[in-house]
Amino acid sequence: MTAVASSPPSSVTPGTLGTDLQDSPAVRAAIEAIVSEVRARSARLTDVRGPRSELKAGYEEAMQRAAGVRGRGLLYPYLGSGLGHGALVELMDGSVKWDMISGIGVHFFGHSDPDLIAAAVRGAMSDTAMSGNLQSNDDHYAFGADLLRLAKRSSRLAHVYSSTSGAMANENGLKVCYQKHAPASRVIAFKDCFMGRTVTMSQIGDAAANRVGIPLSTLVDYMPFYDPVAAERMGRTKYIDMCVWHLTQYIERYPKQHACFIFELVQGEGGFNTAPREYFKALMDVCRAHSIAIWDDEIQTFGRTGTMFAYERLDLGDYVDVLCVGKMTQVCATLFTEAYNPGPGLLSGTFTGSGSTFAVGRRVLERLERGRDGQSYYGDNGLIERNHRSFVEQVRALAARHPEWFPMQTRWGPLPDIVGGTGGMMRLSPFGGDKEKINKACRHLFDEHVIVFYCGHGPYHLRMLPPLGVFNEQDWPRVFECVERGLARTAQG
Ligand SMILES: Cc1ncc(COP(=O)(O)O)c(C=O)c1O
Repeated sequence: MTAVASSPPSSVTPGTLGTDLQDSPAVRAAIEAIVSEVRARSARLTDVRGPRSELKAGYEEAMQRAAGVRGRGLLYPYLGSGLGHGALVELMDGSVKWDMISGIGVHFFGHSDPDLIAAAVRGAMSDTAMSGNLQSNDDHYAFGADLLRLAKRSSRLAHVYSSTSGAMANENGLKVCYQKHAPASRVIAFKDCFMGRTVTMSQIGDAAANRVGIPLSTLVDYMPFYDPVAAERMGRTKYIDMCVWHLTQYIERYPKQHACFIFELVQGEGGFNTAPREYFKALMDVCRAHSIAIWDDEIQTFGRTGTMFAYERLDLGDYVDVLCVGKMTQVCATLFTEAYNPGPGLLSGTFTGSGSTFAVGRRVLERLERGRDGQSYYGDNGLIERNHRSFVEQVRALAARHPEWFPMQTRWGPLPDIVGGTGGMMRLSPFGGDKEKINKACRHLFDEHVIVFYCGHGPYHLRMLPPLGVFNEQDWPRVFECVERGLARTAQG
């Protein structure tokens, strides 16, 4: 069991009344009392279960209210009760499900984690709920310093600015690139990329459905993301040369007009697509030669690949000029090298985060670095890669039992494999990646008590971002019992 963070954080200045409050034995005891109440109830959630009949009507009402507030029905009939246990989460109708998507990658340490609750409560004692650029406490900079220390292990990143969403971290990243390379105003991005939903990010993101009605004012040139089937067919070197040629064409067509190239080293929404180092390196070398900023969007990958930063696994840290993280860090952030440190006024904002998110974010970073029960999360034999291998085994066993669910041909061409992704970004591709069937499968799996989501733009995949910080590897067969029941319902139509 992880020790609970009921002790005060080290960043508090000694000798103030604020320190005195943080050090108070009464506060510590109160936090421990809260955590033990959480623990006692959380421990009672030990398996999935259906809704409780006496809670169904109230749940329906709450769902309707949520839909009214939102202006449309929710994608999933999901309203949490506020309690869970590791990868298990209780909903307001009393049902309990495996959460294999964790808020699209946010809750790496699952639900009702006692240590993170203690950190959140302690952070919530801050004099104000929110911090901003003008006035904040030291917790804001302590979080940034922790993140920088980890990022600097294998990159030239030197500074960090925090924000409250991944899209905003990306906006800040883009501004930093534009300012450094002014008046260059074009952006290079990969086909199928996703960057968030501000006006600019939804223009760069390669999904027409996400920008209906948005005027197009950002100049974007799209590069193909690595295609393993084409690379195999043409030969990898020839394929990479072709992509470099493609990039060079843009640069010759618009000389000195590109401010940056945005890289997702593993595409998230785009389908958990991976690429080898040589592919990225070849493109990054061209960027370097032409003074185009290399911007690495790790908002979905951070923490989840076989290394803490995806650039570490690919040994590309030296190339990165600008980096964005979010989701599991709780606080989103834009990091940049000394050369990209912008002038005053470019990065600011009313909110940078809250006391609770800084405290939980710091604790998340600390635990990612420390590992679990003496085992590292990272490396080939780390918990993340081991879980990935168990996931792959489960998918292959499922496909062996039901080969008809896993055709290799899709209407977009052959699949490279029925299972893919990397580390804690896991995908499986049943039903030829058909959009409608994948959507139905998500819903059927939900009804069979496992929460997943889809990714890709064709073929479509089922995606999992499991809470690997707390997930027990031996539970994969239990999760896949639910997956099998759900897919059987989809297959039956
Ligand atoms: C790669 C990537 N960039 C940016 C974002 C946007 O983050 P947010 O939803 O916090 O604005 C996401 C979110 O899914 C993402 O996956």
